Amino acid sequence: MSKILVTGGLGYIGSHTVVELQNSGFEVVIVDNLSNSSIAVLDGIVAITGIKPHFVKMDLREKDSVNNFFEKHQDIKGIIYFAASKAVGESVENPLLYYENNINTLVYVLQNCVKHDISNFIFSSSCTVYGEPDSLPISEEAPVKKATSPYGNTKQISEEILQDTCSVSNLKSVALRYFNPIGAHDSALIGELPLGIPQNLVPFITQTAIGLREQLQVFGDDYPTPDGSCIRDYIHVVDLAKAHVVALQRLLSHKNTSGFEVFNIGTGKGSSVLEVVNTFEKVTGNKLNYKIANRRSGDVIAVYADTLKANNELGWKAQKTLEEALLSAWNWEKKIRHQ
Ligand code: NAD
Ligand code: UD1
Repeated sequence: MSKILVTGGLGYIGSHTVVELQNSGFEVVIVDNLSNSSIAVLDGIVAITGIKPHFVKMDLREKDSVNNFFEKHQDIKGIIYFAASKAVGESVENPLLYYENNINTLVYVLQNCVKHDISNFIFSSSCTVYGEPDSLPISEEAPVKKATSPYGNTKQISEEILQDTCSVSNLKSVALRYFNPIGAHDSALIGELPLGIPQNLVPFITQTAIGLREQLQVFGDDYPTPDGSCIRDYIHVVDLAKAHVVALQRLLSHKNTSGFEVFNIGTGKGSSVLEVVNTFEKVTGNKLNYKIANRRSGDVIAVYADTLKANNELGWKAQKTLEEALLSAWNWEKKIRHQ
């Protein structure tokens, strides 16, 4: 049984990935500082899988602690790296926090990969690296555009750090560029736990439907899209979690074709904000209180993935529909609000 380190493993995507890793027979060690997650997530993972992963509460910004951790865990075979701060607006207000938490931490961990010869590394990147695409669907060949926020910049810089490290060491890395992860585990035992007012569409929808928020604002209906609202590629978090297991197995079985590889992880299907709202209403039977509002600054008009490379080379394809994802998000919202 290979031992895999999952940094940020109690977070939204990390916790779903830990479940899939354990279901696939991997032994998991989670490192998380609980800055954006709760220790109770561990109970959810245990309830789903029957296995309690090893958990170490640690802040990856503390270089000495990181070094000590790797001295103690010399049998780690691979790393899935989720730990990061991810609020775009906050990154604009406090860029140094983002460069420290998303870049310094990665460097400390990679130094230990090189030192202890840990060669399999999966990284959480984002479709944000593409900016406003020139053509759709967007493939991995599309140029990386100048980042519009420090958060986006940390993803671009991280990919470069990985590429540079892979070219001079035994490190092999896969960067997964996620499109828009939504939904929750079918069991409703783990899901997304946004702090404060959600910035992302689906948690805002479920919180409005449950009565925590008065009204959803649809940011713009005058974009050059069929219904005027922005288009995104919404991917079920369980499908996304499975992509990490497949990418890890690719590296462990030496199937990678270069030291640093990039894959788009999306469904390949674009959905507009209004389509998401309508689908949510249809599958849950809720009438959503929403209004059309001004455009949100910084939003791209439309982005969805060309998934051919992930389908053909990685051997991964999204299985779940938007309907399933929205229903699971709603079941999770009801569960955490005891309804
Ligand atoms: P999340 O905030 O739910 O999970 C991140 C976890 O990392 C949290 O549990 C947090 O406590 C932990 N963490 C943060 N800083 C840490 C540190 N210094 N030391 C130890 N632990 C630390 O976020 P998520 O949505 O699960 O995202 C996971 C990764 O995927 C992030 O790198 C994020 O940038 C990336 N990503 C997310 C999305 C998205 O929409 N959710 C999209 C694209 C990429
Ligand atoms: C966000 C992040 C991006 C990340 C991506 C993937 C921002 C600015 N960007 O992008 O870095 O890579 O998630 O998860 O946070 N919307 C509304 N009303 C709302 C909330 C959102 O209409 O209350 C609309 C937005 O205008 C957008 C769509 O819903 O068109 C999706 O928004 P959101 O969930 O915030 O994701 P992105 O902006 O795509």
